[in-house]
Amino acid sequence: MSHSRPRRRKVAILTPTGFQKLQEATSQLDCWNPCTKSCTLEKLSEYTGLSTHTLSKVHARQAGVDLRTLTRYFNAFNLTLDANDYCLFPVTDISLLENGPSKQMKFSLSTASQTKILPHSNPIVSWGMAPDVSEFCGRTAELATLKQWVLDQRCRVVALFGIGGVGKTWLATRLSEQLQQDFATVVWRSLRPIARTDALIPFSIFLDDLLEHLLPQPQSTVPETVIGKIRQLMDVLRSRPCLLVLDNIESILPDSRSSSAAEPYLENEPLTDCGADAYEAYVEFLRQLGQGRHQSCIILTSRVQPRWLQFHAGASGKTQALNVPGLTPDDIQHLLKTRGHFQGTQADWQQLVSYYDGNPLILGFVGDMIQRFFGGSITAFLNQEVRFFARVNELLDQQLRILPTSLQTVMDVLATQDAPLPLSDLRSHLNYLPSARLIETITSLQSRALVSTDDSELLLKPLMKNYIKTQSRSTTPVPYSCSR
Ligand SMILES: Nc1ncnc2c1ncn2[C@@H]1O[C@H](COP(=O)(O)OP(=O)(O)O)[C@@H](O)[C@H]1O
Ligand SMILES: [Mg+2]
Repeated sequence: MSHSRPRRRKVAILTPTGFQKLQEATSQLDCWNPCTKSCTLEKLSEYTGLSTHTLSKVHARQAGVDLRTLTRYFNAFNLTLDANDYCLFPVTDISLLENGPSKQMKFSLSTASQTKILPHSNPIVSWGMAPDVSEFCGRTAELATLKQWVLDQRCRVVALFGIGGVGKTWLATRLSEQLQQDFATVVWRSLRPIARTDALIPFSIFLDDLLEHLLPQPQSTVPETVIGKIRQLMDVLRSRPCLLVLDNIESILPDSRSSSAAEPYLENEPLTDCGADAYEAYVEFLRQLGQGRHQSCIILTSRVQPRWLQFHAGASGKTQALNVPGLTPDDIQHLLKTRGHFQGTQADWQQLVSYYDGNPLILGFVGDMIQRFFGGSITAFLNQEVRFFARVNELLDQQLRILPTSLQTVMDVLATQDAPLPLSDLRSHLNYLPSARLIETITSLQSRALVSTDDSELLLKPLMKNYIKTQSRSTTPVPYSCSR
């Protein structure tokens, strides 16, 4: 008589990859709420045939469920559950089902595939000046791409760049909220000085602040030199997965201050805290973060894509950059409808949103204007001439003013074109500009996400194009000032 050992029952927990696959699939359902980024459990239950209790256990990724449950969930969305999507654990202790995975299990979850990050149930978070993004909507595709870069590809640096108001800060914040459980510590900081007249925060103080929040315990001795602090910081980033969000890094980029009468405070600050230009120290530090060995991730937002990232993004697979697009007409419609009552056809919404490139900040101002002066009628707003007014002008001017003259000249030419302009034609318009200068100028426009299309043809994005055209037409002062 053979005595086969009783088989130990095993339970499964979704890995971050498996969880993300399900999220992407459920986001296609009608009941998906873009603001809460979820479907109701009741609807999912109808869809999958699983109980709401089981579904919440699957989503929580703390207690195990039967592997067949995961298979059923995946099959309901025509997905195949593969080995990277889950980890199996023996049920040796019933407390597992109540208290979540043990340390050993968490380790297995994180090493199930070389690319997984350890889930942390209680990350230490310092949100700094991060905005409240509870009204966040849309961005399903962008969030999926970004999470794939951070969780699966284990990128060390992920940069979000684009024009002011397009939603970089909100996207970075939403992303970090969704990723916080995957990191031991999350620190969110803005590098923009509070007031224009304020100096950039000295690099050494910036490092002290990071160390204070990233070190697991207060240290008895803190290195005094900048290089010592950087070494200590790199050790922390190597030893535990930290998520560092640095907002507004254009504040430290030479590109943003090169031409800049408009931002003299950037040019003139006596910023030497370690004998070297503090801007350079910041930039060099960021470059090191992208290249150094560590298991952490740094998310950057910037109006200008840093030059070192332009050349490294994608090449090593460890740094990536996203040119943040505007929101879709559906998302803008959803967003504005939370702020007032609007009337307009779908075509009106479409026209309104594409005119301003889906820029949520600007469309928020425009929505305000439509409420106050056009009784909420988008049609009436579109039927009149005035599309740019003080609040919007200020925002765009602020960004145009700091551009070198050569960039402004190229933009003026592009603003007259409705179709992509071949580079050779642009060259003939600007034959007094040396070729190298022209190429540099185009690269600079691309790094600011002001043009679409590829290197051989250029098209200015609608928002700036419409603005420049309006400005060149109008010699009279702007008709409304609605600054409050
Ligand atoms: N995904 C979004 N959902 C709803 N509102 C958004 C979203 N993204 C941006 N906004 C709105 O647009 C404004 C500007 O966004 P922000 O992220 O600060 O832009 P940026 O950092 O690119 O200058 C926010 O204050 C918010 O009102
Ligand atoms: Mg911002």
